[in-house]
Amino acid sequence: MTEISYIQQVNKLNNSFVSENGRPPGMFIQTFGCQMNERESEKLHGFLLAMGYNESPSEEEADLVLYNTCCVRGSAEQKVYGRLGRLKTFKKKQPNKVIVLCGCMPQREEVIEEVKQNHRHVDVVFGTFNKHHFPRLLFEHLIQRKTVIEILQDYSEASADEFDGQTTRFLPHKAGVTVMHGCDNYCSYCIVPYVRGREKSRPVEEILTEIEALVADGVKEVLLLGQNVNSYGRGLETPISFSELLKKISEVSGLKRIRFMTSHPKDLSQALIETMRDNKKICKHIHLPIQVGSSQILEAMNRGYTKEQYLQLISRLREAIPDIAIGTDIIVGFPGESEADFADTLDAVKQAGFSSAFTFMYSPREGTPAADLTDEIPKEIVQERFNRLMETVKPLQLAHNQQYLNQVVEVMADGESDKPGRFTGRTDDNVLVHFESDNLVTPGDMVNVKINEYKTFYMAGSAQ
Ligand code: 5AD
Ligand code: SF4
Repeated sequence: MTEISYIQQVNKLNNSFVSENGRPPGMFIQTFGCQMNERESEKLHGFLLAMGYNESPSEEEADLVLYNTCCVRGSAEQKVYGRLGRLKTFKKKQPNKVIVLCGCMPQREEVIEEVKQNHRHVDVVFGTFNKHHFPRLLFEHLIQRKTVIEILQDYSEASADEFDGQTTRFLPHKAGVTVMHGCDNYCSYCIVPYVRGREKSRPVEEILTEIEALVADGVKEVLLLGQNVNSYGRGLETPISFSELLKKISEVSGLKRIRFMTSHPKDLSQALIETMRDNKKICKHIHLPIQVGSSQILEAMNRGYTKEQYLQLISRLREAIPDIAIGTDIIVGFPGESEADFADTLDAVKQAGFSSAFTFMYSPREGTPAADLTDEIPKEIVQERFNRLMETVKPLQLAHNQQYLNQVVEVMADGESDKPGRFTGRTDDNVLVHFESDNLVTPGDMVNVKINEYKTFYMAGSAQ
């Protein structure tokens, strides 16, 4: 049977559910982790709709709860285990509740063991390579009422994009588009290459067709997704660079903004910088994780650049695009990180002048090379460095937003806030803006907003 016929089979079962209960079964999806997971949850949501499920307001009431998980840090996993524990009590009252665990966590053997031992109330488990098999796995569970676990180790069997046709879109005007899967970089701390497999670019034509369809359906902004978009195109039958891909995407008429993430500093080409400079549709914002400032720790992390090379890259970006906003990821407390190493991070952060930064405490991930390092940093020191880092980052973010005070900026509206006449949106460089407008504003509208207030994480103003 194909996926479509499994969808039909589950639909039939759900028709009986409607006859018995006088309502369709309810679903609740919770996504953990990155934008890639968000995008994949849209697809899983599309499957569930096609199978006859309706939105449920809460996990407690839902007949099916799906957790699309992240395993990049231990804390992300602990959150999921905590939530599974809560579901156990709900399931006692509602024994037919279906619990689905999928995404990155189940790709780790330790997680499967933990689920088998301590979370036997989980019903369907699958990983990152077989999300398109969800209808079959759910059908098997509904028929047999047994736990169904299927984990694949790579994409060899089928393309993960096979199920694009079924997708839901959570937002009318913005969409994530996966341009590549997996990662080949093997940063020494990172679990991603082990749970999302080898880097694999999607063919250009496939991406363009997807974007054209999105734009025809009202999308104004796309976020191109990949673990390392700068190496896009390697291994394709006709190799092509990421900057060439961007140029082609920008030709789609009706599309207003193009964003992309994540960029790896070691692969960011001059051609990309020039394309960003010359192409009006490409947002003047780049997410460029530095991770740490110490060249020695960067080497231990296998990042492929030094502090100086990173800062030179920032200079080249700013030279070409003076108003570019640069965001980053930073890890504190990597094994062996000395006070001098950490000082290098603070120094690099100040020199780079980031407009935003995601900051993380190092979390050892079993199976990665860094997990075997013994010179761990005591928790109190990591916490103290983390606090200092936050104190360094916040003023930079504030200074970035301050430059817009009393200026008129173009904002793409995301929607109305709780108060009537108040809306939210994002600037080209991705700053959140709350604004007032006397006119009706719908998601995707471009609005000129005069900024009269700025804070670390947002700005406020009124439409002109
Ligand atoms: N510990 C802490 N942070 C991590 N990241 C990836 N792996 C780890 C880890 N083991 C961070 C990196 C990456 C972001 C997505 O998550 O900063 O850029
Ligand atoms: Fe992980 Fe490094 Fe790949 Fe990013 S580039 S997903 S940090 S291995």
